[in-house]
Amino acid sequence: MTHRSTRRTVLLATGAATLAIGCSKYGDEDDSGSSPSVNASGGQELAKTSDIPVGGGRIFKDEKVVVTQPEKGEFKAFSAVCTHQGCTVSAVADGTINCPCHGSRFKVADGSVAKGPAPKPLAEQQIKVEGNSINLA
Ligand code: FES
Repeated sequence: MTHRSTRRTVLLATGAATLAIGCSKYGDEDDSGSSPSVNASGGQELAKTSDIPVGGGRIFKDEKVVVTQPEKGEFKAFSAVCTHQGCTVSAVADGTINCPCHGSRFKVADGSVAKGPAPKPLAEQQIKVEGNSINLA
């Protein structure tokens, strides 16, 4: 009995030390964020990396965010609000993010305008990729 308790305590202590090391790494890399622990808890997960097609993307209407994967393993996110008159973009196809209202198209790689009348690129959004999870930053 006493031996089991001791072992469990040692395991818990080791786990806590590992977590502490992980947390300090995140803190060092991202000292601009005010509450990085929110994302670490998984509360803001948008999608799994496997949900985003390579060379394409996926629109999250509720969050008004488009997540793209221009190259394998490279993820980007942009506002889903068209810079022309504010419609929500509706499709990602053939390398562009498309607005249904007046036909504007934006490149999946950087959100820049591929076809007007939109005057400006889609605004870039911050995301964090942790393992196979994509989170809003
Ligand atoms: S609102 Fe998107 S093209 Fe006009």
